[in-house]
Amino acid sequence: MKLVVTGASGFLGREVCLAALRRGYQVLALGGARAPTIPGVAQASAFDLCDEAALEALLLEEFPHAIVHCAALPTIEACLAEPERARKLNTDVPKKLAQLSFHLGAKLVHLSTDTVFDGKSGGYQPTDTPAPLNLYGETKAAAEVEVLRFGREHAAVLRTSPIIGNSVSGDRGLHERLFASWKEGKPATLFTDEIRQPVEASNLADVAIELCERANLSGLYHWAGTEAMSRHEIGVRIARHFGLDADALVRPVSRAEVPAAASRPRDLSLRLHPLAGKLRTSAQSFEEQLAQLRVPRGCEDWYEQTTGRKVVRRLEKGIDF
Ligand SMILES: NC(=O)c1ccc[n+]([C@@H]2O[C@H](COP(=O)([O-])OP(=O)(O)OC[C@H]3O[C@@H](n4cnc5c(N)ncnc54)[C@H](OP(=O)(O)O)[C@@H]3O)[C@@H](O)[C@H]2O)c1
Repeated sequence: MKLVVTGASGFLGREVCLAALRRGYQVLALGGARAPTIPGVAQASAFDLCDEAALEALLLEEFPHAIVHCAALPTIEACLAEPERARKLNTDVPKKLAQLSFHLGAKLVHLSTDTVFDGKSGGYQPTDTPAPLNLYGETKAAAEVEVLRFGREHAAVLRTSPIIGNSVSGDRGLHERLFASWKEGKPATLFTDEIRQPVEASNLADVAIELCERANLSGLYHWAGTEAMSRHEIGVRIARHFGLDADALVRPVSRAEVPAAASRPRDLSLRLHPLAGKLRTSAQSFEEQLAQLRVPRGCEDWYEQTTGRKVVRRLEKGIDF
């Protein structure tokens, strides 16, 4: 199978490329401004997906069996800073990809987000109606409609939760951001009543590839880890996993104490049914996810001094940990 992976210079896209390679597939890895460098990927380039004519020419030339679309402006802050770019990249590009993959008869797996929901009830099913509270959620919710409109038969929209894992840049994973702050002597203040359901990047990548393989799995699906918990609990469990003093490094705060929190979704937990029953890949407990996290590069000295533990460096998936 020949796959095009967009956002391959990003956090999830890289893992999707590696998951495809593990299964022996041919991968064309597209980054945005940066050409992806991924061990084992021979075809990789920087490519502006907003150039619709070039995108059409590329896909007609390559004629892939499947496209996994990970490129996005994937944070609330980035979308607010560049609203026009957010609409183009997060909504118009997936629409164009859905049209093109329909034309090619290629499977499209489009990554979406829990942030399409308002967080009032939690426990969201794929059939629940999106009600985004911010521009990021709006642009992603609009994309879901377009992708399914053009690709009901051959496209899968995969809504997911905050992604954890080891990133090449060293600053995309949640534990990497926590370490960066801890290393600067700043404890993290995290909400005790904002609920999320983290997923590990390589597990999510396996699901994206399995969806490419399964022609009968189209439509809208949810994927995350098995445990929904507060941001505070996530931080505490990460600290404890690394043998760090969670009480000193992770401070609790409630949403009521922070006026701006009212505009943030409270509970974005997801129900994984029916996808969880249809795949070989299993959803992971948080313990299984934690087991894959490494001490981020640049934090080794601080970590060794703080815990007395030695960091053993190793090369994993082309990243030197
Ligand atoms: N990260 C999370 O916690 C999370 C949670 C839920 C859902 N998601 C969804 O998962 C997907 C992947 O997120 P991520 O965290 O992996 O994102 P990321 O690390 O920020 O990567 C974004 C990718 O998009 C590329 N890109 C940006 N503008 C582009 C353009 N004009 N043309 C082509 N490519 C462009 C970037 O390329 P360059 O950097 O080379 O410019 C980068 O490879 C997104 O759809 C996101 O909405 C993420």
